[in-house]
Amino acid sequence: MTLGPIGVFDSGVGGLTVLRALRARLPGADFVYLGDTARLPYGTKSPDTVRRYALQAAEALRSRDVRALVVACNTASGVALEALAEHWPDVPVVGVVEPGAAAACRRSPTGNIAVIGTESTIRGGAYQAAIARLRPAARVRVRACSVFVALAEEGWFDTPAAEAVARAYLGDWLEGDDAPDALVLGCTHFPVLTDLIRRLAGEALVLVDSATTTAEVVADVLTDDPGTTSVGSLQFLATDGAQRFAAVGSRFLGQPIDPTDVEIVDL
Ligand code: DGL
Repeated sequence: MTLGPIGVFDSGVGGLTVLRALRARLPGADFVYLGDTARLPYGTKSPDTVRRYALQAAEALRSRDVRALVVACNTASGVALEALAEHWPDVPVVGVVEPGAAAACRRSPTGNIAVIGTESTIRGGAYQAAIARLRPAARVRVRACSVFVALAEEGWFDTPAAEAVARAYLGDWLEGDDAPDALVLGCTHFPVLTDLIRRLAGEALVLVDSATTTAEVVADVLTDDPGTTSVGSLQFLATDGAQRFAAVGSRFLGQPIDPTDVEIVDL
């Protein structure tokens, strides 16, 4: 029996940062990635809308016989994980919020943790709840940084415009006695801004993204070992803009994506 690919989805190219970590952890596994680029951003939409979009995206991946579903989007993980798991009890569904919160709790030296994400992720409180559960004494502050999504999708990772936005969002957190010791990049679009944030924040701040920890969780839930002897295949689906997906996505994934390899699908 051949096992299907691992399905991974996000609203756009952000989840490719998670796919990159998954490929590093499970090099022999086949993957199919779906970016719902026609409907991005998810982060400013209502929970009901994000849940509906997530169920449709997951359905498209299920029709490709995926053997596990990775919700590589914090926004969708925050509001749709339970609904997805209920709909497909036979397939492991893994989100990025719990692994990200667990990594923050483990790596923050004093438990003074800041979380940034989309409006929906911050409003929904999934990170706050997960951190409170895992490290009850932690102090958590949060902020929605929606413009970071647009900057990342535009490929403006370390530009003067990106720096001005980062200073506006994070400036007051980066100085003084009360500065957080860990910053959770609670949106899969944000890791591409790591160099910029690191430059502004300095070396002491622990930057946490959920990609590596999520890859560990996925490896644990797989019922078989995809092995490392062969290199797994990669399939890309998007709901709009193959050229754009390939151009910006290559930088998120860390390897070239050919636009002719991006299949446009309708959800
Ligand atoms: N990459 C998504 C996340 O992790 C959100 C981007 C969007 O707003 O669509 O939350």
